[in-house]
Amino acid sequence: MTDDPRRLVLVASNRGPVSFGFAADGSLISRRGGGGMVSGMTSGLTAAARHDDVLWICAALSDADRAVARQDPGGTRPDGEVPVRMLDIPPRMFSGAYNGVANSVLWFTHHMLFDTPNQPRFGPRFRQHWDSYVAYNERFAAALAEEAAAAVLPPASALIQDYHLALAPRLLREARLDVRIAHFSHTPWAPPAYYRLLPDDVAGAVLDGVLGADHAGFLARRWAGAFLDCCEAVLGADVERDCTGDGAAGRVAYRGHTTEVAVHPLGVDAPALRARAREYDVEAHAAALAEATRGRKLIVRIDRTELSKNIVRGLDAYRELLATRPQWRGQVTHLAFAYPSRSELAEYRAYTERVHEIAREINEEFGTDDWEPLILDLKDDYPRSLAACRIADVLLVNPIRDGMNLVAEEGPILSGRACALVLSREAGAAAVLADNALLVNPFDVSATADAMHEALTMSAAERQRRCAGLAATAASLAPGRWLADQLSALRAAP
Ligand code: F6P
Repeated sequence: MTDDPRRLVLVASNRGPVSFGFAADGSLISRRGGGGMVSGMTSGLTAAARHDDVLWICAALSDADRAVARQDPGGTRPDGEVPVRMLDIPPRMFSGAYNGVANSVLWFTHHMLFDTPNQPRFGPRFRQHWDSYVAYNERFAAALAEEAAAAVLPPASALIQDYHLALAPRLLREARLDVRIAHFSHTPWAPPAYYRLLPDDVAGAVLDGVLGADHAGFLARRWAGAFLDCCEAVLGADVERDCTGDGAAGRVAYRGHTTEVAVHPLGVDAPALRARAREYDVEAHAAALAEATRGRKLIVRIDRTELSKNIVRGLDAYRELLATRPQWRGQVTHLAFAYPSRSELAEYRAYTERVHEIAREINEEFGTDDWEPLILDLKDDYPRSLAACRIADVLLVNPIRDGMNLVAEEGPILSGRACALVLSREAGAAAVLADNALLVNPFDVSATADAMHEALTMSAAERQRRCAGLAATAASLAPGRWLADQLSALRAAP
């Protein structure tokens, strides 16, 4: 027990822990927000709420969210364990910021996804979207400033999440000098040569925005290092790098202010996840999946249908496995769960089509009357995903680039069969899981097929040893600690 007074911790992110919909009778129904940031932050903030006052500020994403936000525009709405305030951002402004800049420009930049002979092209349309992005960031900064002003025990801490809100730290600093500000990137950060695809003023504004924070956090040393490199190359900022120390990456002095840059890898709340996976709905899915795959070896992947997740090359690798190692035909099933994502963007719709097409081809080429080689499912079903993790023999996580990747950590924690992990070396998680995973170059389809074969033939003892190591690492990076470390670093900052 501690008698320390409760301090105010504000979190700001685009997607919040809850989103609303309307039931047939017009009443509100709530559902849990998706994605790695939301699950890590929800768990971390629930732990923080035991000794601090917390408030999560997010955008209203649906019409029902907007209705909720309008009912109580300035106030907070307690929902579950973390109080939430939703910002009613005009749909046009939201779309310009979220689709036009955050997801189709900044996401593509940090994950290095552009088809560069054709994209990006920055013209008048982009400038309209950029204005929306600035205005959207201003809305968040104003809400944070307003909430911070009401702190009973100043200074408040503001934890600003992700590339949607890169400008908010600077805007908040300009509004209130007393707030302790952290920014956290859940994505990779692009190296300077790629980052410079952005228009010069935008490249500068995004870095300057993050440097408005006292503390800038990243999931892996590589991403923090790339950020420091960009600060130096693009802004000419004064950069210091730490090569030792407990996760510290360095600091940047710019415009009379110093930002600490640090690495905070995010893992999983293992007891909570295991408890959830023992519930009836997960048990039922596990039994149904085992029945459908009839005791065959299972290769499992669980992703959003997201360009950076590299689903197409993953399916190609499975096809190559079946083509080059006929002994696996009829003996293995690939469960590929690829949940809908960002369907407002044409690239995502085309990618989803391509995933379907390859899945069809594989089943046509290799399927028999009593064996469906690939089960592709695009329906978002959380308990079924947990069930698939429990019964996987091999977990495939092969992103082109990824900030961390929580599936790579959740899978081994839940595994009932001591799964082997085939993991892209370009995922942030590779920095902590490398010793016990089979690392692959995500662009090398043949090497990925080889790794699947190695995983399928690995001895039971070796799988046990590796899976236990993976689970222990993931559990050691629990979200409660991840958030507490950031808060203490922020409060200790000069
Ligand atoms: O990785 C950054 C992130 O914000 C994660 O939380 C999540 O995996 C994803 O992006 C969510 O994207 P969206 O909110 O666009 O569905």
